[in-house]
Amino acid sequence: MAEHPAYLWWNGKLVRWEEATVHVTDLGWSTVGAVFEGIRMYWNAEAGEGFVFRLQDHLERLHHSMKLVRLERRYSVDELTEAVITLLRANECREDTYIQPVAYRSGGPKSLSGYSPESQIYISIRPMPSELLSGKAVHARVSSWRRIADDVMPPRVKNISNYRNSQLATMEALQDGYDAAILLNTQGKVAEGPGACLMLVRNGKLITPDVTSSILESITRDTLLTLAREDLGLLVEERPVDRTELYLADEVFLCGTAAEITPIASIDRYQIGDGAPGPITQQLARLYHDIVRGIDPRRPLWRTPVGMTQLTKA
Ligand SMILES: Cc1ncc(COP(=O)(O)O)c(C=O)c1O
Repeated sequence: MAEHPAYLWWNGKLVRWEEATVHVTDLGWSTVGAVFEGIRMYWNAEAGEGFVFRLQDHLERLHHSMKLVRLERRYSVDELTEAVITLLRANECREDTYIQPVAYRSGGPKSLSGYSPESQIYISIRPMPSELLSGKAVHARVSSWRRIADDVMPPRVKNISNYRNSQLATMEALQDGYDAAILLNTQGKVAEGPGACLMLVRNGKLITPDVTSSILESITRDTLLTLAREDLGLLVEERPVDRTELYLADEVFLCGTAAEITPIASIDRYQIGDGAPGPITQQLARLYHDIVRGIDPRRPLWRTPVGMTQLTKA
């Protein structure tokens, strides 16, 4: 892909990148109640095909996010599915790609009182090469910022405003010489990373904060719990997690659509395991890698083929 894709999708139509503009006064308030999704298409070079991972689940979550912030849902999940596929085909995407639909409020005065349910949606894409199985591991700190709570700004959905909390934690971690942050919730239990969920392994068990621990209802989390239980036969616990469990864990990793599976080497300078990706993390990463790319043919309903094989090569 060039510097930017040729097209994005905006309110029902493919629009050339240069022509997708809004007035400068639309900046700011329109994004306070905006919601979005982060979806990946994985390219399978051997098959000459791209597969969008759990597309329907992501678009259903977009609908849930829109409902929670009271945005009108103008397009059905089926219509948005078609929009994503049309966009990937129009841009002839033949590489790992990140797909980001954004639904935002339009109309009405641009202030707190400017509540209007009227919504607009655009979908943009950009290349995002996979880092799965790269062997990289990151150094994390527990943030001094707490994760937003369900009765403050619900982290369950992908509201853009929630990411101010994520930014504060990320900036703090980077400034202090770490690669990543881990946020505790207002109860002092482990919540998640700024843009990913968290899992740990202790005594062979896979443990992760439950969905009422102030986390996003993550699709990768659900995927990995399913694979761990059904394919790897691991014992899985979804429950409140203490901070000190992180320090004593054998393995810890972040997981999410963008983060994929990111092993953690140390937390607050406590080394995790031997500081390299652990055996269960690696086993899960291999399985996840093969499933998302369609190398492993199991769970076909999780993959939506783009239909690139039907397009003539440019
Ligand atoms: C705050 C937060 N938590 C968790 C996740 C992981 O969610 P998913 O696996 O659905 O991408 C994300 C990623 O988008 C996120 O932004």
